[in-house]
Amino acid sequence: MSGTPHARRTVLRAAALAPAVGLGLTACSSGNGPNRSAPTAPVDLGKSDDVKVGASKLYTDQNVVVSRISEDEYKAYSTICTHERCPIRHLEGHKLVCQCHGSEFDATNGKVLHEPAVRPLAELPVKVANGKIIAGPAKKA
Ligand code: FES
Repeated sequence: MSGTPHARRTVLRAAALAPAVGLGLTACSSGNGPNRSAPTAPVDLGKSDDVKVGASKLYTDQNVVVSRISEDEYKAYSTICTHERCPIRHLEGHKLVCQCHGSEFDATNGKVLHEPAVRPLAELPVKVANGKIIAGPAKKA
């Protein structure tokens, strides 16, 4: 046997904490992970008919959610969470749920439904051109 009981306890405690620390870093780290910003130029999101009237669609690669309010009216919002800037990855109907700390937003108007976020999602200009949805970039504040 090597090491004192105290040294072994320290090693075991560090090993037990390592996965939790690693998960925390993965959930909100920056760097080589997924795209963490809203469009900085207009982006083509594909066919306008991909979003049915009354529905919302999440575009995770572009960090945009589009809601089709009526046949000709669309709304688009950045899906960068206004709490600590995690890219939101879950849409349940019209409700966006941030996986980092549980904030929820209404995809049809960007409003906060559940804290910790307190600011609404950034609205993006959106239009349909040649049957394609074009959204962004965000307006400067
Ligand atoms: S970053 Fe979205 S809830 Fe904290």
